Amino acid sequence: MDFNLINNYDGFQALAAYHDTFFDRPSPLENQEFILLHKYIDQLEISGNKLLDIGCGTGDFCFYMANCGYSIVGIDYSDNMLLVARNKLALFKNSINARNTFLGSVDRPETLAKNSLTSVTPKIKFLKNDICVSNCVSEQFNLISMINALSYIKPENRDCVFSNISNCLYSKGYVIFNIVTRAEFEHALSVKYENSMFDYEINYDYKKDHKLSTTCYKFYESGIIKTPFEIHLAEYEHSLGDIVKVLQKCELNVLKIIPNTPIYSDDEVDLNKIIEAVEASYAMPNGARSVIFVAQKK
Ligand SMILES: C[S@@+](CC[C@H](N)C(=O)[O-])C[C@H]1O[C@@H](n2cnc3c(N)ncnc32)[C@H](O)[C@@H]1O
Repeated sequence: MDFNLINNYDGFQALAAYHDTFFDRPSPLENQEFILLHKYIDQLEISGNKLLDIGCGTGDFCFYMANCGYSIVGIDYSDNMLLVARNKLALFKNSINARNTFLGSVDRPETLAKNSLTSVTPKIKFLKNDICVSNCVSEQFNLISMINALSYIKPENRDCVFSNISNCLYSKGYVIFNIVTRAEFEHALSVKYENSMFDYEINYDYKKDHKLSTTCYKFYESGIIKTPFEIHLAEYEHSLGDIVKVLQKCELNVLKIIPNTPIYSDDEVDLNKIIEAVEASYAMPNGARSVIFVAQKK
């Protein structure tokens, strides 16, 4: 398929129903990526507990953070992703209620399952919003997260996304997000995925000149799938330098750039040196495939 014709909105709408099973996601509380992100969040001095999660998908990061005491608004432009997220929220609430009733009826609370949700009823709202539309969110927050979402945003919409983020952060509020790098796009070309529930094929293509990676999921007829179909998604390469520029333009001070592979720089406070070191790593076998940014509103 011509990459110019790929519409990520249609792709996510189609993927929503299969998202959690297809990627074989762990329970939100055991998700290693979220545990790591929370470690960095815990190091910040956040003055309140209002969190906005942008591109929340089926809601797993919202469930994780609600369990840590945050009051959350999860936004996504895909109605189908939001439908799955809201159904999961209803299930979590039911299971918490059932467990509280059970605990009230026994005198051995230590029977509580390890890693179960706390007794705090999750304070989560899932709302439909396109982060590429100016001023799409009217509330303000202490913390904003955008996990595994920026790569699906076209570079021409980057300014709008970060200006929205800046507008809905309180002064001294924080934003944490990740980007996938060229090294990840190249790595994906060689990975073999397996899922016993579906008969499928995944085709990746990385178009270096266009700084774009495309994924085509082909689902064949099998037990779950009655009619074969294809899902196409496009991901864009955002350079570290471009991200830093847009953050600075939107009054967001970069506090940390954390690559998922160790990077050594003589001077950790010099952003340009860190950027050069991370980008130089892309061509190495263990180069940084994803990078976490932490920034603070002035
Ligand atoms: C790969 S999923 C990640 C979901 C979730 N953050 C997670 O890590 O589990 C990317 C999500 O971003 C959403 N998304 C992409 N572009 C968006 C936009 N312009 N506005 C709002 N949501 C968007 C998609 O619908 C999808 O649910």
